[in-house]
Amino acid sequence: MDKIVILDFGGQTTQLIGRRIRDKGVFTDIYHGEITLEELDLTDVKGIILSGSPYSVYEEGAPEPDYRIFDLGLPILGICYGFQRINTFFGGKVESLSTKEYGRAPVQLLKKNPLFQDIKDGFLSWMSHGDSISEVAPGFELLGVSEHHPAAVYNSEKNIYAIQFHPETSHCEQGFDILGNFALKICKANPEWNMDKYIELECNKIRQKVGDKSVLLLISGGVDSTVAGGLLLKALPSKQVHLMYIDTGLMRKNESEEVANNLKMLGAENLYLINAEDRFLSPLSGIEDPEAKRKIIGDMFIKVQEEEVLRNQIPSDAFLAQGTLYTDLIESGKGVGKKAQVIKSHHNVGSPLVEAKRNAGLIIEPLEMLYKDEVRQLGAILGLNKEVVHRHPFPGPGLGIRVLGEVSKEKCDILREADWIYINELRKRKLYDKIWQAFAVLLPVRSVGVTGDARDYSFVLALRAVTSSDGMSADVYDFPTKDLLEISNMITNSVKEVGRVVYDISSKPPSTIEWE
Ligand code: XMP
Repeated sequence: MDKIVILDFGGQTTQLIGRRIRDKGVFTDIYHGEITLEELDLTDVKGIILSGSPYSVYEEGAPEPDYRIFDLGLPILGICYGFQRINTFFGGKVESLSTKEYGRAPVQLLKKNPLFQDIKDGFLSWMSHGDSISEVAPGFELLGVSEHHPAAVYNSEKNIYAIQFHPETSHCEQGFDILGNFALKICKANPEWNMDKYIELECNKIRQKVGDKSVLLLISGGVDSTVAGGLLLKALPSKQVHLMYIDTGLMRKNESEEVANNLKMLGAENLYLINAEDRFLSPLSGIEDPEAKRKIIGDMFIKVQEEEVLRNQIPSDAFLAQGTLYTDLIESGKGVGKKAQVIKSHHNVGSPLVEAKRNAGLIIEPLEMLYKDEVRQLGAILGLNKEVVHRHPFPGPGLGIRVLGEVSKEKCDILREADWIYINELRKRKLYDKIWQAFAVLLPVRSVGVTGDARDYSFVLALRAVTSSDGMSADVYDFPTKDLLEISNMITNSVKEVGRVVYDISSKPPSTIEWE
């Protein structure tokens, strides 16, 4: 399948570049910006994009591409920092100028060029740069200018394009079409990417890899693992597919029953539903540190899983399938960006068992190239019901990281009840689908209140609701005050242990979506 490679230098919107091009039907692959040509798989690659970056090209440690990419004869497009890298490499100048450009800026087009085919002269671009091109490199001609700076250049001999603005953001007028022009008209990539094609390719891949061996998939109850299960059951005879669901006691209300029903609906034959509440809650007793809690939960998952695999006689050479998404890999520091930091240790990436299976070549991650909304699309095509497909993400460690500080069954029960009221109300009020993720958090503080005429000393509960496209960044959901007040009231009226409700108004960054 034809594809476009994106080299990521750490820009905020690199993911979006990929999404926009996929939306035009062309597959994209993102690599860290400093990958060498030897490491890069160039099969079916029709063009390369250099992303933006928080760095300035002259800063120490600023990432640089392997410059031999300019000799491959493939069309190249540099965006923002990518532009500045190209310009300095070919002998132009980049400076921090006094007139910086942020926000909307009209671009005057100077020449006809396929990059701007059907793009109107004077379109409003989206700028976000402190440094600017002060001298365009020899061999490059100006295609467009903003009020103060070169906005687009082209080197016809090398087939290299560079633009200062961000076509991937929704604020850039016709930006998606500019990216589409690059992928389809300049790179001439065949638009072969769509979900049906993906299912066909992925099912073939799974069948080829697995042969007649067994596959084990741990189901968390979330969208990702359920969709991964659906895909496995489509690719393989159901007797080869073993689905294991571990109830950690850290699940939401009614979750286990719903998961079991969904999997049966998918045609699962080998379904193992394991109640391990005590096994998870005992080692968590007395533990307050979030990373320690994550580790305990992650390790216990592996332990319970290993024991259950033996007990249920799942073959030792079984493949392990995971519903890992692209964004999970990135946040765990495993994906793009050499300098990527581990923000949180997602337990479904890189556990010893996963690594062992990976080293033995026994791992399948059929969703690893997908973003959440693509997974939802896939789930719908596989026939999962709307409620499962549009379910908000739920972290692997579950309520273990939503009961802040020490976790206990009593606290989980309180949180389960409050969260259930919150989510149910969102559904009833038709707010659920406007929100990327909503949940309640039980704080390790109590506050004074008054019920009847008596003094109360009860828990504080925080409500979180964010909008996002992939969980990598998030905005606070602008909650209608009336709904918020009514929901808060319902919770304090029904859950007697909660005496106060607060609403979390922090975006990501600087906060993360989960509190721990
Ligand atoms: P944060 O809190 O890092 O979360 O902003 C980003 C997204 O990832 C989810 N999340 C997890 N998912 N295992 C998971 O499978 C984890 O350990 C984990 N921690 C966070 C979080 O709910 C949000 O959707």
